[in-house]
Formats: sequence, C-alpha cells, structure tokens
Amino acid sequence: MRTDQPVTIRRLDYQVPAYLVDTVELDIALDSERTIVEAKLGIRRNPASTAPRMLVLDGEALEFILATLDGQPVTPVIADNRFTLADVPDSFTLVTVSANKPSANTTLSGLFMSKNGFFTQCEAEGFRRITYFPDRPDVMARYRVRLSADKARYPVLLGNGNLLEQGELPGGRHYAVWDDPFLKPSYLFALVAADLVCEEQTITTNTGRTALLQVWVENGDLDKTHHAMESLINSIRWDEQRFGLELDLDRFMIVAVSDFNMGAMENKGLNIFNTKFVLANPQVATDIDFANVESVVGHEYFHNWTGNRVTCRDWFQLSLKEGLTVFRDQEFSMDMIAAAAPNAAVAASGKAVKRIDDVRTLRAAQFPEDAGPMSHPIRPDEYQEINNFYTATVYEKGSEIIRMQQTILGRDGFRRGMDEYFRRHDGQAVTCDDFVAAMEAANAHLGETADLSLFRRWYSQSGTPVLSAEREWDGNTGRLTITLSQHTAPSVSQPVKLPLHIPVVIGLLGADGADLPLRLDGESGPAPTERVLHLKEAKQSFTFTGLPAGEAMPVPSLLRGFSAPVVLDHDLRVEELAFLMAHDSDAFNRWEAGQQLMLSVIHARLRGEDAGLQTSALVEAMHRTLEADLDPAFVEVALTLPDEAYIAETLDVVDAPAIARVRDELKRQVATGLEDSLRARYTALGVALAAAGEYRPDPASAGRRGLRNLCLRYLTEIEGDGLQLAREQYAAATNMTDRFAALTALAHAGAATAELADFFQRYENEALVLDKWFTLQSTAARVPDGSSQPFVLHVLGLLKHAAFNLRNPNRARSVILQFCMNNPRHFHADDGSGYQLWAEYVLRLDSLNPQIAARLARSMDRWRRHTPERQARMREALQRVADKPELSPDVREIVGKALG
Ligand code: PHE
Ligand code: ZN
Repeated sequence: MRTDQPVTIRRLDYQVPAYLVDTVELDIALDSERTIVEAKLGIRRNPASTAPRMLVLDGEALEFILATLDGQPVTPVIADNRFTLADVPDSFTLVTVSANKPSANTTLSGLFMSKNGFFTQCEAEGFRRITYFPDRPDVMARYRVRLSADKARYPVLLGNGNLLEQGELPGGRHYAVWDDPFLKPSYLFALVAADLVCEEQTITTNTGRTALLQVWVENGDLDKTHHAMESLINSIRWDEQRFGLELDLDRFMIVAVSDFNMGAMENKGLNIFNTKFVLANPQVATDIDFANVESVVGHEYFHNWTGNRVTCRDWFQLSLKEGLTVFRDQEFSMDMIAAAAPNAAVAASGKAVKRIDDVRTLRAAQFPEDAGPMSHPIRPDEYQEINNFYTATVYEKGSEIIRMQQTILGRDGFRRGMDEYFRRHDGQAVTCDDFVAAMEAANAHLGETADLSLFRRWYSQSGTPVLSAEREWDGNTGRLTITLSQHTAPSVSQPVKLPLHIPVVIGLLGADGADLPLRLDGESGPAPTERVLHLKEAKQSFTFTGLPAGEAMPVPSLLRGFSAPVVLDHDLRVEELAFLMAHDSDAFNRWEAGQQLMLSVIHARLRGEDAGLQTSALVEAMHRTLEADLDPAFVEVALTLPDEAYIAETLDVVDAPAIARVRDELKRQVATGLEDSLRARYTALGVALAAAGEYRPDPASAGRRGLRNLCLRYLTEIEGDGLQLAREQYAAATNMTDRFAALTALAHAGAATAELADFFQRYENEALVLDKWFTLQSTAARVPDGSSQPFVLHVLGLLKHAAFNLRNPNRARSVILQFCMNNPRHFHADDGSGYQLWAEYVLRLDSLNPQIAARLARSMDRWRRHTPERQARMREALQRVADKPELSPDVREIVGKALG
C-alpha cells in the first residue's frame, strides 16, 4: 500500500473494463477482530474489450481465504493489491472468501468501527477493502447482501435498498438481508451495524408512491434529528418541483456517525453522514449549523439522481456528479430562503446573501488552490491519489461551470438539458462531455446560443481568468464602448492558456442610480436593463447606444451575480464604487462594490499609506448601509471586511501577520466611526428578536441574529461597554447562536477565560459543541486571557487536552487543521513554530489516517508567496515531511507537488 514511487493515473489512458459484474451477493459476518466476507459475483466478459482474457480484481488490506470459479477451487495470484486469475471463461460465477479487521482500520475507508458499531465508506476506492472486486465506477451491478452480527451490541443492521428478511441466529447473533433493485457502482455500497435509534416518517411522492424516511442516530440524540428530517422532506419536494425528479426507493435512510473523514456520503438509499451535518437543535447548533445541515442533506439526496442513477465513468469525471450536485444544493438553499421570505424584495436579497456566501467560499478556498501547486481543471487530467481530488475546484468551481450553462441557456433551457441528460443516460456511467452534449442537444433550436464547443474549455483548462474592462464614453452621442479582455496565467501543467467563453452579466446605472436600457449598436426594438455579454475571444468590444447624451458616463455594473468564476480587474474610481454600493439593483454587486472599496483601503495601508480620506469615505458608506432600511442578513455581509485568505490572494507577496494587523486596525476604525449606530442596532435587534418569541433558525431571524452579533463583534474591538455586553449576552443566551457568538467576541478580545471554562463544563458531553470550543481557541486572534503567551503553546495545550483525540477527524480538524488553515497570523509566527507543529502532525496523522493528513498537508500549498524568511522555514518543514521514507501516496502527492 505504501510506496515511494508515486504512480500517476491519466485520464486519456481510460480503458473499458475487461469484465463486467452483473450480480453481487455478499454474506458479511461482522466481527470487530475478524469480519468474514463471502462474495458471489456473476461475471461476464465485456464485449467491448480487447484486453487479454485475464480477470484482475482490486483488493486492499484483505486476508485471502479461498476462491472458486463455477464451484471449482482456483488459486489467484495476489500481489500489489490485485487479485489476478488467468484464462477465465466468458461467463462465470466467482466466489471469494476473505477476512478483514475493522477494529484496526483507522483510515475510515472500507469497513471501520466508530464507537457504537460498524460503518462503511466506499467512495472512492474503499470497496476493495471489503472484498475483491473491479472497484471502478463503470462496473455497475445489482447487489444483495446478508449481514450478521452480535445482536446485543449491534441491534440495527442496515444495507442499501429494501429489507427482504431478518431473524435470529445461534450464539446471540442475528441477520438481515438487503436487496438493492438499482444498478450501482461499488462506491455506493454501504452497510451499518450498530446500536442506533431513529426518527421516521412516511411520505407520498408526487406520483403517489409511499416511502419510509429514517434518520438514525445514537441513543440520546433523538432530540437533534428533526431539522435533518425536515430538510430531507424539503429536498424531496424541491427535486420533484424544480427538476421533475422523484424519490425512486421505498426506503431512504440517513445514518449519523461521529468518526467520518468527509461531510457525508450518498450511498444508495443509505446515506452516511458526519454527525456535524445531521444533529441540530437550538441548544447545540448555530444558525450556520442549521443551514449547513439543510444544504448537506439536500446535497446527498440530490446525488440520488445526479451521481447514483447517472454516475461517473471514471474518477476524472468526478465533477460530473459533484459540480452538478453542489449547484443543485446551492439552488435548493436559495429557493428555501426565497420561499420563507414575506415578499419579493426580501426573497431577492436573501438569495443574494446565499450567493455572496458561496462566492466567499470560492474565493477563499478555490482561487488559492487554482493558483498553487495543486491547480487542476475541474476535470483533472491526472492524479496520483484520487482522494486528493475531492477539491474546491471539482466541487465549487465545478458548480460555477454548471451555473454558467444555466446563465447561457436560461433556466428553461437548462431544465430541458437536464431532462435530456436523464433521458439519454439513466442507469449509465458517463462523462462530463456527455452532460454538455445533452445540454446542447436539448437546446439546438436556440441556434448559436446552444453551441457550447468553446465553453467546454472550462472543463479542460485550469486557473482563474482575469477579466479586465475598459470604457470609452461619447457624451455627445450617448455611446458607451466597453472593451472586455481576458487572461489566464500559465501554470506548470498548462504553459499556454486559451480564451474561454465567459458570460458577463451587465447593467448600466444612470445618474439617478436606476438601470438604463441596454441597446447594442445595430439593435432595435425593446431593450432590456440587464443582459449577458458573451466574451469568447481574448479581447472584444461592446458598444451601447442611445444612452443619455450630455450626461456623465453611466456606471457599469459588471459580472452581476458573479456570472463567471473570474477575477474582475475593474477600473472603477472610489466614488463610482460608493455609487454602486448605494444604488446597484443587483444586490450581489452592491456587496461587491463595498468589498472592492475595503480592499483598496487595505491595499493602501499595506503599502504604508495612511489612506485617511478613502477610509472616511468607506466608513461613511458603511454607516449609510447600517442605517438604511435593508434586510439585516444583507447588512451583515455588507459590513464584513474581506477575509484574510481573500486579501492574501490579491497580493503578490503575503505577510500574513501584517494583513491581520491592517484588517484589525480598519475594523477598529469602523467600530469607532459607527459606535453609536452599532450599539443602537444591537439593542433594537435584541428587542425585535425577543418579541418574536422562541428561537427559530429561519432566514429572517437568523439574519437579525447575524447582524446583531456582528454589531457585538465590532463593539468588542474598541474600548467601551462591548465586553460587558458580550458577557451579559453569553450568560443570558437561550440558544447556541447567541451564546457562541458572545464567546467568540470575548475570545478574540483575549478576555474569555471564565466563559471558556463555563462553556466546557456545560457542553462536556456534546462532542460537536466541544469541537466548536476547540476550533474557537485554535483560530482566535489572542490566547484566552489576552496574555503574551506564544500562541503555539496554547495550541500545544489544546492538543494535550484530555478531550482531544487525534483519531476522531472532527476533533483533529478542530485544533490542528483549524490552526494551520484558519489562523494565518499565528500559524505564520516569525519563529517558524507553526510550521514545525504542522510537520509533526502531518506525520503523526499520516500513520493513522492518510486522507486527513493530506488535507492538513495542503495548508502549505501557497508557501512560495510568503516573505523570503518564512518561505525558507516553510520549505524546511515541507522537506522534513518529504524525507520520511514511509509516506502515504496521499501525503506524498501533496508535498511532492508543493516542492516540485
Ligand atoms: N461524495 C461525497 C459528497 O460529495 C463526498 C465524499 C467523498 C464522502 C469521498 C466520502 C468519501 O457528498
Ligand atoms: Zn457530493
């Protein structure tokens, strides 16, 4: 399994499978020390293959016991994680018996144990750790599985599909037989055997079928399942309405497990979730947690069609299911927000806030990835370890590529394309290209609009394009020419970048702030006030005519709604940004104008300029936003400064502590300038929330709490009564959102000793809340008592805490990953102590759980952009990891690319 010779797998080397598996019958006798798996596979030669007549199966960390072919014993060659049998017939039944040891499986891939039972994780290549199999997504089979286990310890036995029978066995054991009526790839196989309880409900689908929905959790957590169940029902309804896609199973189960590498997994009919994305009630979960549960429940449910019914031909096509399913969950969340809104204006603003959140994630996580050593197209061309490619690029940028297709084809056109995709490919394993082809075919009647041949380049080219805009205004004739150009910086694997098809949604604001009609030169007839410009070349000009002559140049609002995943290099003056911030009819661009204003102040200050005038203009504009009659959720995002990661991406040389310092200073100035308004708003929102009664996580009240807690956060940045307010709020809070926000404000101010101790005591038995406690301390600006203790010592203390556990991914992430990824000012301490801690924990984690180790390893990706002294220390730490002879392929790939 471990090797020093990295093996690169290439997309263009794809070969169809030599043998297909039609049926899989598994008999799994679960035992923590020795689980015995008997697999009966109905195999036939693939008529489309020309490969030699040799059966090759994958198998990893398995003990081989025996094999028979059509009832006759056979002796396979077993080496290098492969099971090879020469000269097999065209069609045969293969039986294998193997054993594995779940209690020793710390990788959490394959069959593993979490405190209360057995669980599986098979994506991407975990099934081969359960039995010998052609473990690739283009081998789709019908599965039946018989599970048996000790009844007292593992009273619940779950599998994919329908429960056929269950019963008692001698020796205190019991069994259950599950049958999945749908063809599926091995990565969607799952089983659970544990001591669990469930909340359940039956629903009727849009065609009148009934289905049983269950949310399974540990005993004691049934008071935290309701929101997940409600989210599941909402997801089912949404997919029926928006895409005409129905739940196809009689039973749909969600199971929560506390040891899990990722967020959740879409196994057919048996989704397995990290507890973090299932369990929620007002006492333990924040508004953000509630929203995340809804979004992840939706995401996994939507995979039932986009991923499961139609799956990926090979892992290079991962974005086929992930980009599309992220797009679907983003749209679902937006529609849920809109549905809860009292009127169209609030609905539009709520949707914009969700879009803003998603774009912030893209900029903070995907843009840096695409500019660093792990840069890859959304459909990668090569990988060493597929687990390293569950990335922000495949997921979040992948979703942007789908969103652009909807922008280009329109909502109806996009829906037609989706219908055609399922009509063509239901039950198949296909490629990204098949998806685009379905979109094109279904919209052929639109002519050139539906020609996505150039658009396809988004799938093959990596990097973030920079889009530049220049303007030329002829005030005498009312003609405005906007020249758009695009440039993508070369990368190691792609030294030459080509122009992309970029849909640029645009509006033009007149002197009164209203949108002007947009008529391109040569057009007649009615003119819309917003439209899509299609940039397809390196440089293109668009001339708008009939604009008010004799007036000042209209102000362009470009890339509305963030219509493409690019960096917009605008030439707007400070006054124009302030104008857009106040008047743009597109809420996203109102927010964006504010962010650009903030960035320009931060840049000036980082250059050592005092930027006094610009700062007062910014503070004034922020003041107007705070005082205006706007949706509180929007005000909250509009008053939040760009985060450190995004600021770093806009600079050539990164001095992380300096960025944090400048951002802090600006925050204090904003707080000082807005102090009275902040306090007034804090109080007024408190009154409104109290009057609204009991806590509910709906968008309107979450928005009020969000803005109120932002006000508190600003007030604790300056001298005054901020800390006092925070202490009072902490003590009086009736929900986790308010309590944790108060604790956060105190912790960043270095004044949280008492409250942190109190918080620990209150929630000692709530693992997910303790994760928050660890995360907060690892990402804080100061140590809890505000003393001058080196921060890294505090982190070391957390790592030695009795409640810390490196084997539990959520807990490991809450300290070590959070510190390395989300606390740049202290991670980049001058003495290099952060980097040493990083190296030590990458190595420690690698021998337990390579996937988590590789995630941590990635916090060094952008090392070449830091100051020279830091670069030297970072390189040393990287080298220390690279020099270790026994590294997993996962970490080997990450550090190899970072140093390469
Ligand atoms: N396919 C899962 C999702 O996106 C993510 C995942 C990948 C989970 C690999 C586990 C292992 O929903
Ligand atoms: Zn997914």
